[in-house]
Formats: sequence, C-alpha cells, structure tokens
Amino acid sequence: MNQATSFDTQSAAPIVDNRSRVAKPDHVPDDLVRDIDMYALDGIEAGYHEAWVGLHAQNMPKLVWTPLTGGHWIAMDGPMVREIYEDPSRFSSEVIFLPKEAGEKYLMVPTRMDPPEHTPYRKLLDTGLNLARIREVEDQVRQTAIDLIEEIAPRGHCDFSTDYAKIFPVKVFMAMAGLPMEDAPKLEHFAVGMTRPTGDTPEEMAACLDAANTGFFEYVEPIINARRGGTGTDLITIVVNGTIDGEPLPHDKAIGMISLLLLGGLDTVVNFLSFMMIYLARNPDKVAELQGNDLKLLRGVEELFRRFAVVSEARMVAKDQVFHGVELKHGDMILLPTVLHGLDANENACPMDIQWDRKGPKHTTFGGGPHRCVGMHLARMEATVTLQEWLKRIPTFRLADGANPIYRSGIIAAVEDVPFVWSVA
Ligand code: HEM
Repeated sequence: MNQATSFDTQSAAPIVDNRSRVAKPDHVPDDLVRDIDMYALDGIEAGYHEAWVGLHAQNMPKLVWTPLTGGHWIAMDGPMVREIYEDPSRFSSEVIFLPKEAGEKYLMVPTRMDPPEHTPYRKLLDTGLNLARIREVEDQVRQTAIDLIEEIAPRGHCDFSTDYAKIFPVKVFMAMAGLPMEDAPKLEHFAVGMTRPTGDTPEEMAACLDAANTGFFEYVEPIINARRGGTGTDLITIVVNGTIDGEPLPHDKAIGMISLLLLGGLDTVVNFLSFMMIYLARNPDKVAELQGNDLKLLRGVEELFRRFAVVSEARMVAKDQVFHGVELKHGDMILLPTVLHGLDANENACPMDIQWDRKGPKHTTFGGGPHRCVGMHLARMEATVTLQEWLKRIPTFRLADGANPIYRSGIIAAVEDVPFVWSVA
C-alpha cells in the first residue's frame, strides 16, 4: 500500500492519506491520471451531485484514470457513460462493482452476464416488474404513501430520510415480495455492505462485500425453497417458478436473482427520494409551480430522475482497444457515474436547475443497454405518488434551521439527516 502525505494549508500540519493506491499501468498516460475516490469524493460535504459536477468543472479529460479503489478509469463525459452502457461487446458486465476484487465477490444474477446469456434471465425479471404489473399495485402503493404522510403531517416536522424515505419504498417492496417488514433492517444492513463497503484496501472492501453477499444468499435460500411450486402472485414466487429457455430456473441462479431484486428494490429509491425532497425543500418556487398542476408533475418526474442520479457502477473492458483516442486493455475497469450524464451541461442546459418543462431530459440514471433498470417503472411510480400525496398534505416545507444533510458516495449515493419543518394549521 502506498501512503500519500500532503499539507493542510491552514495549520501546516501534515495530512497522512492512508488510502491504498496501485501503481499506474504502462498503457495509462500520465496526463490522464487524477486522484478521485468514488467512495470519498472531494467536496462531498456540499452534496453528492455537487461533488461530481465540481470535478467536471475542473476541465477534465473525457476519460481519466485513478490509482484509488484498485485503480480504474472513470468516464467523465455524459454521452460516453451512455455509449459504454450500450455496448456490451466492448464493455462487459463480467465485473461491475469497484474495487475489482470486491466486484469479483459479487454474485447477483443476471447483472454480471452479457447477452445472449443475460437475455432469458432479463425476460424473467420483466414478468415480475413490467409496467402492467406495476399499474396493478398502484392503489396499494398510494395507500402506503398516504398512511405514512398522514401520520407525519400533523407533527409539523420530521426527518424525511428516517420517517419516510427509508420506510415507504421498503414497505412497498417487502409487500410486493411477500416478506415481513421486520426483516427490512437486516436487508438494509446487507445492502449498505454491498453498495458502500467499508475498508481502506481493496481486500478489506472485498471482504465486506462478500459478507453482505453471503448475508443476502443465506436469507433468501429458505424463502426460495418454500415458494418453489407455489401459486402466489408475489414477486419472489413469480420469479422462482419461471423458466429459462424452457427449463426451470436453476437453484443457484434463483438465489442470485432474488438477492438482486432485494438489493435493487431497497437502497436506490430510498436515497433518490431524499435527494429529490431536499431540493424541493430548498426551492419553494419549484414546488409552487407544481401546485394544482398534476400534468406538470407527471411530466416533471423524469426531470427529477435526470437531476438526481444515484448509481455509479462499472464495466470491464472486454478486449484491447483504442477508445476515443485512449488505449484500453482487456480487464481494465471503467467507472460510469450516471450523475455525470444528466448533469452534463452539453446534454442538458443549466443542468443543476430543475425545469419541469424541459424537453426530453437526457440521462442515464437507470443505466442503458441490455441491463437498463428493470425496476424503473416501480421507481417512477414511487416518486410520482410521493410527490402527489406529500404536496397535497404538506404543500410548503423547508429544511430546519441549521440542517446539515450528510452525503455519502459509493455504488449507490446516500444522504441522511434531512430535517424538514412546516406550519400546521
Ligand atoms: C431511483 C431508483 C433506481 C435507480 C436510479 C436504478 C438504477 C439502476 C441502474 C443504473 C441499473 C443498471 C445496472 C447495470 O447496468 O449494471 C439498474 C439495474 C437494475 N435495477 Fe434499478 N434502479 C432503481 C430502482 C430499482 C428498483 C425499485 C428495482 C426493483 C426491484 C430495481 C431493480 C434493478 C435490477 C433487478 C437491475 C438489473 C437489471 C439487469 O441486470 O438486467 N431498480 N438499476
């Protein structure tokens, strides 16, 4: 492990950076090297999206290489993020989490498959989460939101993260999967271990991710066994009794698929909702534009997904190639911060502003290509229902005085400490 030392200009005290760095491979040019830590972004105190955009503003090349997190490339350009997502022949999903050592321990199905192997598994996931099926559960989802908001509204204050964002999508998902709500904290613990693993070295992070992966697998295995051959309509029963190319879904693949659904359904929407509502709490004029205009709200939800991307996964370079003038080697890893597409000023003018009427917001918040998020219909509905029902009951709200949300970066970005206040009639 290399240890870097720099100086704090205020106190002139040396700051020792204990993070592990790897040596730059020969094919990486010196002028493309930048010290960027996806798990501890510089400037994260001001906000996750602000931190990534701050890097963008530093006249970055489109592709840079960092010696941190095991050493990997980062696509800094919006269209490049999309291009890589959409081309599995050049950029494989064989490993998608960083550091690569940790990504190799990640066994969720079918995220690490490339087409054509991926295709039948993806079809099976679609049967449980397609738009028609999500519409069937809309009333139930709406009622879950209403119950929570009606409980919060008379108080005049809440912590949006703990009182709503960490409960609503989890309740919705646990009900769809036919799982008891009391299991949610355990699953949340595993999800955090996977998407923001702790450790100073790739090996330590791999151990954390491995433990979380095992936790998911041990949790789902008996549930899968109990639901094999069942006739229930919950998401797990639908998927485990599905077929792959006409054959029953193999047991090991069923464990990986159900674990992935739990991971996808739990951590993403939770954090997206908090990011979205912090912005609205700070921008009452934007909220006012939505009041009494449900059509604007329905159209504007996509703009919110553009503005508040939360996922940063990676792809593995599938073969030696020259990509946008840069030499890449088979096995190199490229991080794809989806935030950098929606917030690319060349793609969306004034990208930090929410413009409810923006025509066709361009983003990769749900990924792209064959692995594009299978849960996006559910995510969109959860965001829409939250906005509709919250604004009906709590039309004006703001961050409490002195509020200081805590932001975390990682495979899925997170935010906590989100105190809101409003007046109660
Ligand atoms: C704000 C909400 C969400 C965001 C931003 C999001 C983002 C993403 C992204 C970027 C990918 C692509 C991964 C890749 O290409 O490697 C993905 C895939 C996936 N998402 Fe989501 N997601 C969200 C909500 C959900 C929900 C609610 C579920 C529900 C179960 C879900 C389930 C999945 C699954 C299973 C995949 C893998 C699809 C495949 O490999 O074919 N996601 N998501």
